Amino acid sequence: MQTLYVELGTRRYPIFIGQSLDSAELLAPYISGQQVMIVTNTTVAALYLSYYQAQFEKLGKKIAVCILPDGEKYKNFEQLHLIFDALLEAGFNRDCTVVALGGGVIGDMAGYAAASFQRGVNFIQIPTTLLSQVDSSVGGKTGINHPLGKNMIGAFKQPEAVIADMRVLETLPERELSAGMAEVIKYALLCDADFLLWLEQNMPALMQRDPALLAEAVYRCCAHKARIVANDETEKGERALLNLGHTFGHAIESYLGYGVWLHGEAVATGMVMAATLSEQLGWLNTQDVVRVKHILAQANLPVTCPYIPVEQFLGYMAHDKKVLNGQLRLILLKNLGQAVIHNEFTQDALIESITSNQLPA
Ligand code: NAD
Ligand code: GLY
Repeated sequence: MQTLYVELGTRRYPIFIGQSLDSAELLAPYISGQQVMIVTNTTVAALYLSYYQAQFEKLGKKIAVCILPDGEKYKNFEQLHLIFDALLEAGFNRDCTVVALGGGVIGDMAGYAAASFQRGVNFIQIPTTLLSQVDSSVGGKTGINHPLGKNMIGAFKQPEAVIADMRVLETLPERELSAGMAEVIKYALLCDADFLLWLEQNMPALMQRDPALLAEAVYRCCAHKARIVANDETEKGERALLNLGHTFGHAIESYLGYGVWLHGEAVATGMVMAATLSEQLGWLNTQDVVRVKHILAQANLPVTCPYIPVEQFLGYMAHDKKVLNGQLRLILLKNLGQAVIHNEFTQDALIESITSNQLPA
């Protein structure tokens, strides 16, 4: 097992990474009080709830469970209320601990519930998808979707601890593994050229779910995320770099309809678009862009999107949270392994980066 810390002063917290971890022993110091609410969904409950429930029971805690329906479309106010209902019906108080057992949807919702129930209670993340292990469980962004925009309602709520066990990735659907791998590749492209080389060498074994290699990949990603979050918890600067490919990706997701492409799939093609625009700025060369496409394809990720009329694509990009004073800012690559936030590109170059990575009409 390896342990990393997110250094946030008195809110410093550990990320435990390994295979078949003893979660009861590891989490015991981070559960204040006697009441534990496990928030999960129907899919994850069927696979892992009894194991984790037994772990908390071993610690003598009073356990309650809230099982939500599975899916991004349920990341809304109605389902959030079910968590509050469960907490109140169980008679839980301010000393309780909310545990998120699931992927990013459950992590974001349970975290937001923990941030707001009785103005904030203890929170633990047990991420069960690759995406949530390398990204969403670390850093404290929590929230729900609004009909007018994804992740528009939320709060920063850091967990007390994160436990990423490679064992749970065994049951992850192939497409979800690939989607999580897009976020892994993202870290390499944005800040770690050595990691990109390592991924190029190890991608076939990672896609075969070699647990030691997966643990190494999760560790390297979390180390980067922990450093970035410690430097810029509320995204005033550097943390925005974690959104490489996301502004393009959100446009793809929005146009196609949420759920048609997974977030990681859209981010994958979005990173190709960002790389293409970076090439047009003279920062990357053609071979660099080929490498970006190749590593994504190795992870079975799409590198072109269906045809989307460019005016509509640009319209969706204009709604991005990174638009500042009406100006679109994008995360682009000075080099492979070095991302920057940048707004000096021509409209023609932006359009070319989109249209050259789409299928024809
Ligand atoms: P998800 O939570 O929907 O999980 C994907 C699917 O895998 C679901 O059907 C889930 O039930 C299933 N699943 C989960 N664990 C499983 C397992 N071990 N075995 C089998 N099936 C399993 O999706 P996700 O990709 O984990 O997360 C996406 C969400 O995360 C989005 O809502 C996104 O906005 C959010 N997100 C948040 C942050 C953040 O910083 N808070 C960062 C990135 C993404
Ligand atoms: N997933 C982006 C962030 O946590 O900032």
